Amino acid sequence: MIESILDRMTLEEQVSLLSGADFWTTVAIDRLGVPKVKVTDGPNGARGAGSLVGGVEAACYPVGIALGATWNPELVRRMGASLAGQAKSKGASILLAPTINIHRSGLNGRNFECYSEDPHLTGELAVAYVQGVQSEGIAATVKHFAGNESEVERQTMSSDIDERTLREIYLAPFEQTVRRGKAMAFMSAYNKLNGVYSSENDWLLTQVLREEWGFDGVVMSDWFGSRTTAETINAGLDLEMPGPTRDRGDKLVAAVRDGKVKPENIREAARRMLVLLERVGAFETPPDLNERFLDREEDRTLIRQLGSEGAVLLKNNGVLPLEMTSLARIAVLGPNAATARIMGGGSAQIATSYAISPLQGIQAALQNPNSMQHAVGCRHNRLVELLQADIHVEFFAGHGREGTPLHIEKAVKGEFFWFDLPEKRLDPTNFSVRLSTTFTPDETGEHVFGMTNAGLARLYIDDTLLIDGNDGWTKGENYFGTANDEIRASVTLEAGRRYNIRVDYDTPEANGEGIYITAVRFGVERPLGIDAIDEAVELARNSDVALVFVGRDGEWDTEGLDLPDLRLPGKQDELIRRIAAVNSKTVVVLQTGGPIEMPWLDDVAAVVQFWYPGQELGNAVADVLFGDVEPRGRLPQTFPRSLWDNSAMAGHPETYPGKDGHVRYEEGVFVGYRHHDARGVEPLFPFGYGLGYTEFNWSQPTVSSREFGSEGISVTVDIQNVGSRSGSEVVQLYIRSPKGKVERPDKELRAFAKMFIPAGQTGTTTLAIKPRDLCYYDVDLSAFHAEPGTYEILLAANASDIRSVTQITLSHAYILPPEA
Ligand code: BGC
Repeated sequence: MIESILDRMTLEEQVSLLSGADFWTTVAIDRLGVPKVKVTDGPNGARGAGSLVGGVEAACYPVGIALGATWNPELVRRMGASLAGQAKSKGASILLAPTINIHRSGLNGRNFECYSEDPHLTGELAVAYVQGVQSEGIAATVKHFAGNESEVERQTMSSDIDERTLREIYLAPFEQTVRRGKAMAFMSAYNKLNGVYSSENDWLLTQVLREEWGFDGVVMSDWFGSRTTAETINAGLDLEMPGPTRDRGDKLVAAVRDGKVKPENIREAARRMLVLLERVGAFETPPDLNERFLDREEDRTLIRQLGSEGAVLLKNNGVLPLEMTSLARIAVLGPNAATARIMGGGSAQIATSYAISPLQGIQAALQNPNSMQHAVGCRHNRLVELLQADIHVEFFAGHGREGTPLHIEKAVKGEFFWFDLPEKRLDPTNFSVRLSTTFTPDETGEHVFGMTNAGLARLYIDDTLLIDGNDGWTKGENYFGTANDEIRASVTLEAGRRYNIRVDYDTPEANGEGIYITAVRFGVERPLGIDAIDEAVELARNSDVALVFVGRDGEWDTEGLDLPDLRLPGKQDELIRRIAAVNSKTVVVLQTGGPIEMPWLDDVAAVVQFWYPGQELGNAVADVLFGDVEPRGRLPQTFPRSLWDNSAMAGHPETYPGKDGHVRYEEGVFVGYRHHDARGVEPLFPFGYGLGYTEFNWSQPTVSSREFGSEGISVTVDIQNVGSRSGSEVVQLYIRSPKGKVERPDKELRAFAKMFIPAGQTGTTTLAIKPRDLCYYDVDLSAFHAEPGTYEILLAANASDIRSVTQITLSHAYILPPEA
């Protein structure tokens, strides 16, 4: 069928398939019965079409690093299948996920979206995710291919990575999603790889991905991440996104006529688009693109389960699990207690129907909710708190809000990110908006207003200009580097008085380059003084336990912006210290999208890391704190003692964040624990680390053979739960290679198994290793290469806790070409 459609297509029609129709859909060709399909972000929920900050409600699942911490491919597979249902409810056939770049610096704004610093763990989880999504007939889109480990100058930066490092670390998980996951789509990265844009990189998209790994799906660009006509198509980029086209359409037809692009290349790319449509069943049942909210009990249950599955208990002097009966007074403190921080920022955001805060979760779990008291202590928001109010929104053609509005609507919060405008007569690059609302303060005193805008905006209070985001506007970091930095202004307001707030907005100049965004965000807050900390400390002093909810939120952990450091923002370190000084049962519940420094670690009784686990956050927190479920996660990323212990910082700024348009991955394969091991840098918490509520005894393993043959070997170990509670243990198998031609990491994760073992019982697991697991990538041979010698199999509870070492012999070399 596909061949016959291709035969009947004109060149123009073939070309039309190779760009989006609009932001989220592909082009239909009605004449030939080629349907239109929709794509949707993203990794932790299906947002549907429309704005990044709104849209039809959707279920919110854990972010990537929280999945990384589960070490549980089976559960991730179930999440993939569940997400596919969510995608269908949004009329989408293609999910723009998973994000599987590697945790390198700890500072990547999208660290939260990625799984791990280790390619094997990332690969296993990514394969499970892809298989889960695709088992329900939805295509997964593996992204961002490749070398997108930071958001700094992300549209232009070149990630300079040597081939061995690419093959062993950064490309390895992508390879697995092709070979084992059978991923139907890939997304190229914004950045350049070794000087060539990923979207124009023939080596990456054609030689490696298609010819060596056998990928037969579609490669699409990241949004506005393709910028040429012949170069992208010739390199193997099938689909330019979003639409309507910028560099294809007539330009691509002309390039074919001028001989710059072969007609066969167009036909091939068009064929791959049609095959994709066929694979997602779009020819059989042309998709209904309408969107609805799918709220399934089983999704809620799965999300709640994933919460504890990825929660990592980092320290516990015995205070956890909490004994509900012995706690007359519980203090629930900190900026993440009453506000549910359930996801990261950027394109992974979705509109949720509900989000359970830790405070709500604990309240629901407590038999006597009166025993609980709350104080916020301090704030950590990067931007002034968003204004939540009824807002009257008027759209006008052209700038200056003249004449009658073409469209009027209501909004409920002061953040607008316009993609598809509500009225056809509005030109997306030349419109203006008036936003009107009121604000009635609870308290008299100083209030801080803040606004950031992509485009030009002014904020008025009672018709007096308070913030000028128009005159002298300069580009800052918000909204993927298209908005100014937030401008703040203080004003004294009276409690109970109603103030009129107005924001006048005009679209920015369109210069035809890169990403074009129209957005504005404004908010207001009361500055919190030192008395806020005092109040929290007083509650802690008079309570039996102090639960301190700290971390960051999706304004810090966000696409478009890297983190400034690995510290808890605001006064949170001070808050924790002061609370710990008055309450010996201080439990810190962390929520960040990556590692942080913990200067207060010795002072507190327990620490548990919850990441951003989705809409069931508070319930999952209560499950773990009260011991209904064990915290079952293990760190997917090393927590260094300090940022400067991180491999990427060694050659700062060349190695991070980059200099003169290049970021050099100079540490090579020595990233994460490979760096800590090889350079003797002791981490704060090692890769793979996590405690539970029970204890295990590990037996000595048995191996199927001491002599390594082409069928590989298997390693079997018994683990006994010697505690009185059920629990889970993650057996981690690392390989230590003999000294050879090149320096290799001290050990590398090659297999793992998560086991659930009831109290008093013994579980058995068998892990398999194949020849490729012994190999490094030999650039001289252009092949994966295992040199003969004695290899050690380490079974470990984490990268610093090795429980057994077994030697095996390899008597002759393996040389495996990359296409093998
Ligand atoms: C992100 C992608 C995302 C796309 C569409 C880009 O900014 O990098 O991950 O899928 O937008 O929202």
